[in-house]
Amino acid sequence: MQRQPLVIANWKMNGNRHLTSQLAEALRESGALLNDVSVVVCPPAVLLPAWQSEVFYDDVHLGAQDVNEHHAGAHTGEHSLQLLTETGAEYVLIGHSERRQLYGDSDDRVRAKVDAVLAFQEQKLKVVLCLGEHEHERDNGETFTRIEGQLAKALANVSAAQLAHVVIAYEPVWAIGTGKTASPQQAQEVHAFIRNWLQQRYDAAAATVPLLYGGSVKADSAPALFAETDIDGGLIGGASLEPEAFLAICRAAQ
Ligand code: G3H
Repeated sequence: MQRQPLVIANWKMNGNRHLTSQLAEALRESGALLNDVSVVVCPPAVLLPAWQSEVFYDDVHLGAQDVNEHHAGAHTGEHSLQLLTETGAEYVLIGHSERRQLYGDSDDRVRAKVDAVLAFQEQKLKVVLCLGEHEHERDNGETFTRIEGQLAKALANVSAAQLAHVVIAYEPVWAIGTGKTASPQQAQEVHAFIRNWLQQRYDAAAATVPLLYGGSVKADSAPALFAETDIDGGLIGGASLEPEAFLAICRAAQ
């Protein structure tokens, strides 16, 4: 099964309208070069309308960094699925380690969000499920136990048919924003574990799921990471704020 390379920019709480124009222009100019790569940009939600007016060719998509699991109501400061899709989002990150660590997104809440997205309007949005181990878990040989636990909990209610709307991003917590990238071998080992887990649970449907690596990916580390068999692209934080670096990473995924 051939999977199209996918690179996702996660701006986190960074960026502004000026950077929106800059990155959009850089992507527009390089569009033809990125023909075989799908690119998704996840700006802060308030920038989605600005991005919406910049979207220009079929392989650039928009995503949200999080979503509330409820459809509407008294949830001050939160964003609904309906609103995010109206502002152009086609993907939504769920379970990012910063949400898990800083904003109380427990495994149960991650599962509730996954279920809400996949149940929404005939699966109009794709889930980008983020997972990864802490440094002490890796040091204690608990990486695979941790990954398996996160997969099992987040995908508990997900059917094989729904799996077509799921992307998985492996982001070792110790590599996020630290400059410490996992080696291609370390990343491949976990990606192969995830692919195998999906195969056991979902059979042939597992082959269609893009598996992304995230954690201090830079233009110089991207080629070796993306050359690994089970690494289909990346979830890029810091380097996605620099148009040239981000484009170089996108090119490395071709
Ligand atoms: O969502 C992106 C990841 O958290 C990676 O961030 O590239 O700044 O390490 P980073």
